[in-house]
Amino acid sequence: MSFNSKLTQWQNKRVWLVGASTGIGEALARQLDQLGCRQMLSARSADKLATLAGELKNATALPLDITQLGAVKTAFDHLINAWGGIDLIVLMAGTYSEMSVEGFDIDKVCQQIDVNLNGTMYVLGNVLPKLLEQKSGHLAIVSSVAGYRGLPNSLAYGPTKAALINLAEALHLELKPHNVGVSVINPGFVDTPLTRKNTFPMPFLITAEKAAQEIIVGLEKGEFEIHFPKAFTRTLRTLRILPYSLYFAAVRKITANTKKPELGNE
Ligand SMILES: NC(=O)c1ccc[n+]([C@@H]2O[C@H](COP(=O)([O-])OP(=O)(O)OC[C@H]3O[C@@H](n4cnc5c(N)ncnc54)[C@H](OP(=O)(O)O)[C@@H]3O)[C@@H](O)[C@H]2O)c1
Repeated sequence: MSFNSKLTQWQNKRVWLVGASTGIGEALARQLDQLGCRQMLSARSADKLATLAGELKNATALPLDITQLGAVKTAFDHLINAWGGIDLIVLMAGTYSEMSVEGFDIDKVCQQIDVNLNGTMYVLGNVLPKLLEQKSGHLAIVSSVAGYRGLPNSLAYGPTKAALINLAEALHLELKPHNVGVSVINPGFVDTPLTRKNTFPMPFLITAEKAAQEIIVGLEKGEFEIHFPKAFTRTLRTLRILPYSLYFAAVRKITANTKKPELGNE
């Protein structure tokens, strides 16, 4: 079943990739460039974006801090002045730090909410009127399997990613009648600067290049939820639908012998 229009024709597609300076975003920018997309690349690191854009055929650096509403508006106005419209927005910007009850740090909690959730809302506030006016386009929101259900040591990151899954579902329901596509992207463990600080084993770890390929394939198929690697996410999707009695028991068993659990700390 196809939930969205299939994105099969990439040539000259106008893409705003927010969170493009490193990791999965950088890999996706490189692959979309190969497919012939026109891209505006955003993140805070202007130097990294300029270097990346310089290496690509059709990309422009558009630095911004997603937590600054004014900066998001200025960037989107610039993009619309340049292109007149937009075909695909990938909301990739995200931040993560482990958070347990013993290490609860309200500043780090607020920082993750600011980037992962509020930043996404700031982008939406700017792009939604344009998408509704166009009656076309596609929003891809990068969440995480850590957003499926509550996990230990994920008191800040997990809730932000759960909120993004909920948000994407609501957007999909509302935007479909307006001919605007919505996808939520739920990666497992991907080898990027975000996860390199993890000291625990990360099962089924994949490269950023593989993650970018999975995203492109999912968009080409018109999927709503794009999740990968399947060998890992199929298990987590089963845990997702268990009743609490079974879910809590399963997570306790999986995490019993690890000081830092293997799930949910990407
Ligand atoms: N790696 C994994 O295993 C994994 C698993 C599930 C989900 N994810 C999600 O995938 C997305 C990409 O993560 P990644 O693993 O590729 O990590 P990453 O390499 O750390 O990339 C994060 C991106 O977000 C940007 N960013 C962070 N704060 C920002 C801000 N305030 N304003 C604008 N841009 C900001 C970063 O650029 P600057 O620092 O230059 O601003 C960077 O481009 C994130 O949403 C993450 O939660 C990752």
